[in-house]
Amino acid sequence: MNINWYPGHMKKTKESIKKNLSLVDIVYELIDARIPCSSQNPEIDIILKNKPRLIIMNKSDLADDDISERWQKYFNFKGITSVLVDCISNRGLNEVVNLSYVLTEEKRLQLAKKGIKNRPIRAMIVGIPNVGKSTLINSLSRKKGAKVSNKPGVTKKDQWIRIRKDLELLDTPGILWPKFEDKEVGLNLAFTGAIKDELLDIETLVIKLIERLSFISKACLEERYNIVVSNKSAYEILLEIGKKRGCVIRGGEIDTEKASNIVLDEFRKGIIGKITLEFPNF
Ligand code: G4P
Repeated sequence: MNINWYPGHMKKTKESIKKNLSLVDIVYELIDARIPCSSQNPEIDIILKNKPRLIIMNKSDLADDDISERWQKYFNFKGITSVLVDCISNRGLNEVVNLSYVLTEEKRLQLAKKGIKNRPIRAMIVGIPNVGKSTLINSLSRKKGAKVSNKPGVTKKDQWIRIRKDLELLDTPGILWPKFEDKEVGLNLAFTGAIKDELLDIETLVIKLIERLSFISKACLEERYNIVVSNKSAYEILLEIGKKRGCVIRGGEIDTEKASNIVLDEFRKGIIGKITLEFPNF
């Protein structure tokens, strides 16, 4: 995964998405339910214009259910339909299909007026790296994954996957870039694994993560590691977790790198809890 986007890179991706936009009736905008704001593309409204759009809040198995509901209300208030999905258990996939029919009703009526009936709805997925685009394509198509032959105006390498008799999905997702300017956004992307770990100093990252978790999800942290968090610095908490988990090197010193990797891995897998890092202003 390459998260280093440059102006040229952004322009190229935008153009490729724009080209594919003209082929589809609806766009599935995939975001990470744990960081709904940070995982959105800053220019998404401009890129998608008035194309019917469904926000798919993926990885909902890892997010706080109550906060996910608040995010859905927030999107609803903004006039955008959203759905909670978990590609691992396939939660929400039927809803994606059903909402696709609802959101494209106008287009289907227009086609019917022109005498075009039974033309399948065409959809494409867009989203930032690692948000689950390929997994969603696989999960949606596993049900009925037959490929559809190429159509006029579609280059050879573009393939359509038939999801149902009347719904087709472009098999090439549109890769969008996240916001880079905001430090908080960068941290959220790093916490959730959207930025390659090799690019990061894991201990510094985990200190920041513990700071955040002590604030928004203290009980989860205390319960998972059987520790008391209050009145301790994030570094002290990390040392305590390391001690509890036997991350000790010769001389009794705590191996903070090992402890950091445990915390990060357990956070990303949802073992510390179902935790959402961003809240809607709503
Ligand atoms: P992308 O095409 O948008 O880049 O993402 P991709 O489908 O490759 O998914 C990235 C990671 O997210 C994968 O984990 C995938 O299994 C996981 N994932 C996708 N959807 C869900 C979901 O709904 N819930 C959970 N819990 N995980 C999901 P991975 O193969 O382990 O990759 P990585 O995390 O090591 O990069």
